[in-house]
Amino acid sequence: TRATIGIDIGGTKIAGGLIAPDGTILKRDRRDSPAENVDEIAATVADVISDLAEGEDVERAGVACAGYIDKSGTTVLFSPNLAWRDEPLKERLEKSVDVEVTIENDANAAAYGEFIHGAGHDVDDMVMITIGTGVGGGVIIDGELFRGSYGIAAEIGHMRVVPDGIRCGCGNRGCLESYGSGRALVREARALVAGGSPYTGGLADKCGGDARQLEGKHVTEAAQAGDPAAIELLADIGRWIGEGAASLTSVLDPARFVIGGGVADAGDLLLGPIRQAFGRQLTGRGHRPTATFEIAQLGNDAGMVGAAALVRPAKA
Ligand code: BGC
Ligand code: NA
Ligand code: ZN
Repeated sequence: TRATIGIDIGGTKIAGGLIAPDGTILKRDRRDSPAENVDEIAATVADVISDLAEGEDVERAGVACAGYIDKSGTTVLFSPNLAWRDEPLKERLEKSVDVEVTIENDANAAAYGEFIHGAGHDVDDMVMITIGTGVGGGVIIDGELFRGSYGIAAEIGHMRVVPDGIRCGCGNRGCLESYGSGRALVREARALVAGGSPYTGGLADKCGGDARQLEGKHVTEAAQAGDPAAIELLADIGRWIGEGAASLTSVLDPARFVIGGGVADAGDLLLGPIRQAFGRQLTGRGHRPTATFEIAQLGNDAGMVGAAALVRPAKA
């Protein structure tokens, strides 16, 4: 079987790779993402695909992107945190590249990557939760990616967890994403530091006392250095995600949850609170086998590797 190309369009970076059938990354490319401009993002992605395909025997590319992708993998219907609306991305890309392009949801792609080549390789039923700017989901049932009728299944970040809660990028209020995302982590960290409590000294040091400069990675660094406020902030995120995982388990009963996205860099500082909240919220707890939780093994490469795996032709 041939290598395929995988692209992950993130908020700040566009990552691409030429991926061998066994998941090995043969070649990489990485560019800054021209943030909000859809035309420029498409042009940059086309460029990355062409560079990776140059001189290679490759026919297909999978492109992972945050948002609701139609089931045929051609169009970004809507994206809560990006400017994409009914964007025929496949058609646009195929005008400038020589390979066949398929569009996939970023968290679906990451889930498939982890399922085939990472933390879910040993199970048949797996749920991936990505915790970054948004909260993404990918569901594997009986060894297959579950897409729903229209391609938009597993949008777990937009399950409502708080009636009349904080407004979400999708337009609704009280979505899981508004409480359990990297953006929520930063919002809460900034609010805490801006409050000026001496308890937040460790975080204040990270941003020179200017709460607006505080980023998610600062919270993780401070927590890893033992800062109690930072540890609590991550634990709050973990609690939302763990309770969400318990609700999902009522419906899906997976064997494994894989936790990815930038916030997952916090490792056990996130996983511990997730497991604890899950254990306290799961229906029938104590009387049922339950899913295990792991941090994504492919890290930042999961989306790119998974997007490439999804377009890999089945072995003849
Ligand atoms: C979007 C999803 C995406 C997730 C992670 C959410 O806000 O609705 O489509 O997978 O963010 O990027
Ligand atoms: Na998804
Ligand atoms: Zn939402």
